[in-house]
Amino acid sequence: MDEHKIISLIKASGHLPQIPKDFGEILKMLLEPVEYNIDQCVENFSRFPQLEVALIQVLNYNSKLNREIKTVKDAINYLGAKNAKIIAISYVTRLLLPDNKGRAKLFKNNQYWKHCIGTSLAAYMITDETKLCNKDKMFTYGLIHDIGITVLDICLPDYLDKIYELQLKGIHQIVAEKIVLNGLTHAEVGMWICKEWGLPDEIVEVVGFHHSPLLAAEKYVDEVKIMHLADSISTNYYEKLLGNDTTFIYADKIMEALNVDNVFIDNIIKKLPSEIGKLSRRIIL
Ligand SMILES: [Fe+2]
Ligand SMILES: [Fe+2]
Repeated sequence: MDEHKIISLIKASGHLPQIPKDFGEILKMLLEPVEYNIDQCVENFSRFPQLEVALIQVLNYNSKLNREIKTVKDAINYLGAKNAKIIAISYVTRLLLPDNKGRAKLFKNNQYWKHCIGTSLAAYMITDETKLCNKDKMFTYGLIHDIGITVLDICLPDYLDKIYELQLKGIHQIVAEKIVLNGLTHAEVGMWICKEWGLPDEIVEVVGFHHSPLLAAEKYVDEVKIMHLADSISTNYYEKLLGNDTTFIYADKIMEALNVDNVFIDNIIKKLPSEIGKLSRRIIL
């Protein structure tokens, strides 16, 4: 199959941020602890000096250890694979987050960033309630679930502005995207970039199917459903920021599958604005 025209344009823009291809290897190894080998993992971490520094700094800052963490091996041994994975993912998300590299003129980067934080918070709360997977992981995935939009903001800003204009007229985001991007959506752009960067399948699925959770692979279905619901809750908030007074109907099937009810969702909706306010001040891009 020929590559989609929009993907070719993204590649040709010359603005796409580069992530070393083998960075995904670290994440893959940490996501599959069965094949986890501490020495191989340390070696992989060492190939990314910034990640190594971040890992050691976080530990020395946050922990109440009476010994100082000096090496990556110390850090991973202390944290265990699970937490090292979360830090590695946090690091990679910082490279992918919406920031001042965005070039769109109309599209409001700061409001969109609030939507991402809102999605992270909602995903965290849903996971805390359902206990279906790791809530810190889901928080981090929330920050990058719309990475496809960031890619458009950086590489094809005029296209993103056109989509945004249509949204302001009340057209649904996905419909607006399909009109402007020749049938493509930000979820598909996001999925493409995650694969291009060699990120783990779990992240590829969450990013690629957060708007169509029924298409996700069985293995990642809980993560994708949680992200879908969290995104819907936070989109409701974002649409209000844009001035669109859409009444959102949450997918009953997804709520049923996750075993959460409207009272629980309403509670998240109530908490969201003040929690987003607190967090967006604390997270420095
Ligand atoms: Fe999305
Ligand atoms: Fe979203």
